[in-house]
Amino acid sequence: MKTPISRRHFLRGSALAAGAASAAPLLGLPGVALAQRAGRSRLKVDPEAATAQGLPPVMINANENPLGPSASALQAIDGIAPQGGRYLGELQQELEQELASQLGLKTENIVPYGGSTPPLQYTVMAFTSPGASLVTADPTFEAGWRVAESIGAPMHKIPLRKDFSHDVQAMCAADAKAGMLYICNPNNPTGSVTTRKDIEYALKHKPKGSVLVLDEAYIHLSPTAVSGADMVAAGEDVVVLRTFSKLYGMAGIRLGYAAARPDLLKKMTYFGINALPVTAMAAGLASLRDPDLVPQRQHANTVLRDEVTTWLTGKGFACTTSESNCFMVDVKRPAPEFMEAMATYGVFVGRAWPVWPTWSRITVGTPQEMARFQDAFAKVMAGQRGPLQLSTALLQDERRDGSVTAYA
Ligand SMILES: Cc1ncc(COP(=O)(O)O)c(C=O)c1O
Repeated sequence: MKTPISRRHFLRGSALAAGAASAAPLLGLPGVALAQRAGRSRLKVDPEAATAQGLPPVMINANENPLGPSASALQAIDGIAPQGGRYLGELQQELEQELASQLGLKTENIVPYGGSTPPLQYTVMAFTSPGASLVTADPTFEAGWRVAESIGAPMHKIPLRKDFSHDVQAMCAADAKAGMLYICNPNNPTGSVTTRKDIEYALKHKPKGSVLVLDEAYIHLSPTAVSGADMVAAGEDVVVLRTFSKLYGMAGIRLGYAAARPDLLKKMTYFGINALPVTAMAAGLASLRDPDLVPQRQHANTVLRDEVTTWLTGKGFACTTSESNCFMVDVKRPAPEFMEAMATYGVFVGRAWPVWPTWSRITVGTPQEMARFQDAFAKVMAGQRGPLQLSTALLQDERRDGSVTAYA
């Protein structure tokens, strides 16, 4: 029997991570003092009230995939669920074999995890320390930054180049004592691609003893980004991280992996290899074996994203050049103000990065969701506000003794 989950309860839990404590003073809402103390808050609307007003929440804030798992993945989940009383280690081996063969690697080069956040965190723990820094772009995905902060590793944040690619020359020159260079390709939040030539430069010129970590969470969405998996096969000091959370639509199912030399993988292994959800492994395998999934979803995302960015630039708002399911747009005002005004139309856009305070990250949703985005954007830029009442809530990770939970 299927257990009904209250839509109201579910949406409340998944409402917008509007980020930035700076949004809170604008709101003048209950809970703001607490949100400010904790550092980050999120905006919320009552989903039922919003839906009643014809503005059901549009969640284009967290680089999720509104399509969810593919049909073949859903079927695989259904098929494996009755065996959920077993660990099914053999399924994990099958997954490792499939990944290894698709990437031209050996199974000893692959460790799957529940998403790619854990292996990203483990790379920072393994390869940085108070005496070995983390070199990263800015803006980029910050999950690794938080680990570096918590273990006291120095950090060098290198601005992206004007074309939004990683400045590999500056990254390599940042610190002779660097322990890890992190390149996210395509980059979150910009969606920009760093070329193979630049990745090769980073590998050749990185400080002695450091490890190059290539976060390829979004690589399936890009027609041009080149994977560093062959560098792993060649035995280089490279760790490739991938996830099924993005193109494969499995963020809530949880599957990712690290690909690297066995000795590097061993350094990242603190507690042994844990069993994974059988549903995630079965869905991952089905996704990998579906030949149409990547080209179809990549194409649909590209067409829609380019339509929206063309519309925005036509209206005079600069966008990053993206090959991913997200891009940034310069809204020419403090981004939290824009985020808050958009939320009054039920459209929840992504956070800003302190280095680019007027840019907001937009995730590509469905065509209907992007139409809602464009409609709300035009109204907000004309100085209008929507009819929805907003409230704030603490981000989940702030409620738990400062420990960091995943966010996109
Ligand atoms: C660049 C990048 N890497 C890794 C992750 C982690 O995703 P997950 O833990 O869902 O695999 C994300 C999530 O948004 C991301 O943007």
